[in-house]
Amino acid sequence: MSNKDSFYITTPIYYVNDNPHIGTAYVTLICDTLSRFHRLFPKSVRFTTGCDEHGQKVQDSATKLNRTPQEHVDIMSKNFETIWEDLGIEHDDFIRTTQDRHKKVVNHLFTKLMKSGMVYKGKYQGAYCTPCETFVTQSKAEDNKCPDCSRDLILVEEDNYFLKLSAFTDKLQKHYDENPDFVQPSYRKNEMLAMLKAGLDDISISRDSVSWGIPIPGDSEHVIYVWIEALMNYVTSAGYLSDDKLFETFWPATCQVVGKDILKFHAITWPAVLMAVGLPLPQTILAHGFILADGEKMSKSKGNAVSPTDLVSKYGKDALRFSLFREISLGQDGSYSEESLIKRYNSELANDLGNLSQRVLAMVVKNLGGTLNQPAEIDTETLAQFDKAKSEYKDYFENYKLNQGIESLWTYVNYLNKFVDQSKPWALAKEEKFEQLNTVLYTVADSLKALAHLLSPVLPDTCVKILNNLNFDEDFSWDSACLKQIPSDHTINKAIPLFPRIEQSKAQKQNQQKKPKKQAKNLIDIEDFQKIKMELVSILEAKKHPEADKLLVLQLSTSQGKKQVVSGISNYYEPDSLIGKQVVFVKNLKPCELRGVLSEGMVLAASNKKELSLVSVDQKIQEGSKVS
Ligand code: MSP
Repeated sequence: MSNKDSFYITTPIYYVNDNPHIGTAYVTLICDTLSRFHRLFPKSVRFTTGCDEHGQKVQDSATKLNRTPQEHVDIMSKNFETIWEDLGIEHDDFIRTTQDRHKKVVNHLFTKLMKSGMVYKGKYQGAYCTPCETFVTQSKAEDNKCPDCSRDLILVEEDNYFLKLSAFTDKLQKHYDENPDFVQPSYRKNEMLAMLKAGLDDISISRDSVSWGIPIPGDSEHVIYVWIEALMNYVTSAGYLSDDKLFETFWPATCQVVGKDILKFHAITWPAVLMAVGLPLPQTILAHGFILADGEKMSKSKGNAVSPTDLVSKYGKDALRFSLFREISLGQDGSYSEESLIKRYNSELANDLGNLSQRVLAMVVKNLGGTLNQPAEIDTETLAQFDKAKSEYKDYFENYKLNQGIESLWTYVNYLNKFVDQSKPWALAKEEKFEQLNTVLYTVADSLKALAHLLSPVLPDTCVKILNNLNFDEDFSWDSACLKQIPSDHTINKAIPLFPRIEQSKAQKQNQQKKPKKQAKNLIDIEDFQKIKMELVSILEAKKHPEADKLLVLQLSTSQGKKQVVSGISNYYEPDSLIGKQVVFVKNLKPCELRGVLSEGMVLAASNKKELSLVSVDQKIQEGSKVS
């Protein structure tokens, strides 16, 4: 059982064949928020994330881009780090499976696994899904498609090492019985229990047709199956073999958050490996659902994805995490879109919280000279409502129920709005009843201060602003989240608005295609030219447009993640010949739809009536380089 004073939370580590997207952002934001919540208490907290850099899928992506796997993983993992920073993620460690510390742990644990008698050599003959990096049994490989992602399977025939997973069925069942919270939510646990009931098959744990991986100790013809070594990142990152004190403090992990698609690896394979090597099992594996758009899993390949970085640059970091948690109940699938973010933003952030703060603090400045005094008593209903909200919030967050926890605090925000409406401070000001006015305004300002501490994991930037508006430092803690904390004779600052309203029509307009203006024939200033942001990118995929013969749909690897561009070059290029080409990408064009397909910029080409050639560079240079 984990040390109660410590809290160790992990995200899955992400494949680097693609840049971060809304799904990977969602789980990383969940972990960031939960780690911020636990940091409010006097507790040691560790939050780790990172990249899964080995395996066939990463090897194939590197080859397509004419990079060595190492070059590829170096570039891609940097993108992850940058984007997490843009999203306000504050992790304690960023682990990469190509790091020596990880290889050392994997060698050690795999050797232990072999010595445990639970590994044998055999032949695997069957299907493999490269995008999921999974072996697929024949009975599940209908029409040669992966049962999880529906993509084509490949046939592999390899001499492999196998783990006797079948031998762990009873032990795992016992663990589930004795630890009812091991897998959450319970409906996901039931799926795992059904698998255990059906009995487990032994699994392949090596590949011999893949070279990009960690070799099997003593048998370098094979590499360790990516899923087995990737799971071990969680102990590497907790200091296993490198920092005994750290490991003692944080292992076993308190909460490992994963998507429902990778739950089996974490709730069955991972505990079996830990049992075999004699390490304690994590306390909870928490499975979240998928973010959907129009009822389907949101994904770039389906063209229904919203980009987390675009949303953050338009609406701020807090609006993204708040709206994701509010729209999707952790565990279940949920729909999400830019429109749903805007609705939440306007109704809950701008109206309920932003307006409350603005109107009350403005009155303090206008009617009380900016100074608050602690009243002799605070209304008992307010005290009771606050205590209820705070304790419910704690309970929900400790049980990983983010949406319900936020709801509890919002009930209190709404109570405060009613309190203001009913107390009519504007009438008290008019009647010059300054003592009563101070009591009303103090009650709300003091509540906002307490709320800032409670809400800081969910709205980190906003809560700094709330405290700064109230003229306090942003040293968030659970103990400071109490009422009657503002001392007498306390002067507040002139309030900075928390959430300027978003005009929905304006936001929608931003998404609409603007007709290109006719170019004036006269010359332009350098400032005009500098408005065009261009960079060198490579082409990851090229396909014919489903509705237009002249158009190709290109997927580009850019510094802001994968971007899709529709380009009129189909008469001049075969799609396959474009893969891996470095081209110039105009990245700040407004997105538009071309014959129903989203285009997020353009690639440059030189053309005349007969020929067309894509603009490139005369020697290979680093991707993401600025073109000017
Ligand atoms: N590398 C493995 C994990 C190894 S952990 C030892 C992997 N990586 S991944 O990059 O493909 O996926 C990472 C996570 O993103 C998964 O938990 C997956 O569920 C999540 N998501 C991808 N698309 C998603 C949505 N549309 N919605 C929510 N999360 C989804 O798997």
